[in-house]
Amino acid sequence: MDDELATDIERRMTERSLARHRLGAEPMAAQSAYRIVHDEALLDGNARLNLATFVTTWMDDEADRLYSETFDKNMIDKDEYPSTAAIEDRCWRILADLWHAPNAEEAIGTSATGSSEACMLAGLAFKRRWQHARRAAGKDASRPNLVMSAAVQVCWEKFCNYWDVEMRLVPVTAEHPVFDGHGLDAYVDENTIGVVTIMGVTYTGAYEPVHEISRALDAIQEASGLDVPIHVDGASGAMVAPFLQPDIEWDFRLERVHSISTSGHKYGGVYPGLGWIVWRESRWLPDDLVLRVSYLGGDMPTFALNFSRPGAQVLLQYYMFLRLGVAGYTAVQQGAQDVALYLSHAIGAMAPFRLISEGRDIPVFAWTMVDGHTDNWDLYHLSDRLRMRGWLVPAYPLPADLEQITVQRIVVRRYLSMDMADRLLADITAEVAYLDRLEAPMPKEGRAPSFHH
Ligand SMILES: Cc1ncc(COP(=O)(O)O)c(C=O)c1O
Repeated sequence: MDDELATDIERRMTERSLARHRLGAEPMAAQSAYRIVHDEALLDGNARLNLATFVTTWMDDEADRLYSETFDKNMIDKDEYPSTAAIEDRCWRILADLWHAPNAEEAIGTSATGSSEACMLAGLAFKRRWQHARRAAGKDASRPNLVMSAAVQVCWEKFCNYWDVEMRLVPVTAEHPVFDGHGLDAYVDENTIGVVTIMGVTYTGAYEPVHEISRALDAIQEASGLDVPIHVDGASGAMVAPFLQPDIEWDFRLERVHSISTSGHKYGGVYPGLGWIVWRESRWLPDDLVLRVSYLGGDMPTFALNFSRPGAQVLLQYYMFLRLGVAGYTAVQQGAQDVALYLSHAIGAMAPFRLISEGRDIPVFAWTMVDGHTDNWDLYHLSDRLRMRGWLVPAYPLPADLEQITVQRIVVRRYLSMDMADRLLADITAEVAYLDRLEAPMPKEGRAPSFHH
């Protein structure tokens, strides 16, 4: 290290508390700034041992190269980056086809920053379509509601909060552990803008039976005339089911499914910052939500919450589509599922635990503790102990009505190998043995559900 740099670092270290919350008065050597940020980032958890996240944290060398060559592209600059715009278009058409849109020419779609933004767009399309219909019929359009399971991801809470839509939650119960359309008529009325179904519930990884929910809505339509559309939140499952469970009818094979969203950055295999949404037919995306941007001297429709956002992830998605194809995605998702099943069976066989899900839908599974195993420790303590070994395995309560049940969940992604799974099992076994040897209870204070995505 040269002297100038060393002095600079020392000087900066003494100013550190100031620089944290206030812009420093002077510039800093690039190496110093790099080192400070780099070192602080080292304190984060290790992405490869992060079994809490669904999000891709590893891509191959060619993808990394492509990323570093294209990180400067702005997705909204369609006129300046027409190839990126054309590739975006290709990607959502590929998804429309994968999800069995009856006529890809009729479909419409877009990229987004993640499933959250894609879900907001789906909800907005529902709301606007419903408002148009209500106003055209001379009816009140001021009290929209959206029906979904109590186990929805927080993005739907955000949608309902930000856009003034009543959130109607169907509870998950011991009899109906996933939303299945049972008793749906008690929730749906003339103000219902749509029903959200989830392919790959965040808490457990389970698929909701979209087909059954669709049939329940058919019955409601027959009885009441209400024609209520479905949005499938396929954040994870929409990139798993087409490859691992191709016979399940959850997608545009069901006419009532107007739109489907997914996270390109989850089982799509792309670094964070990418979601997708496709509407079965362009008529389900009301025209007055679509804005036009300049593109090759003409104009191009866009529907998004942000204006500027990275274009590189879209290019990476296309790279993944080319790189893997159907056979590659099938092999990758199957590999993750094999590891998930291997782990879940081993964990389910341990005396303190009972499986809530196995990982047969998306490669995600959760377990709880058997009643009466011990009062000395719980899953929050196990989560803490595993964290000491580098593994991030969150513990949290199930949603309302089942919140007395605490679960721990593992999301298996592409690069959790069988070898690593064996290491994890050895660590869980060792930590369970340690906790079981305790002669007095672990302190209860300070335990809090870890964030789960
Ligand atoms: C079912 C579901 N929907 C939506 C989201 C939000 O996705 P994103 O993080 O891509 O915004 C998640 C995230 O885990 C999810 O599991």
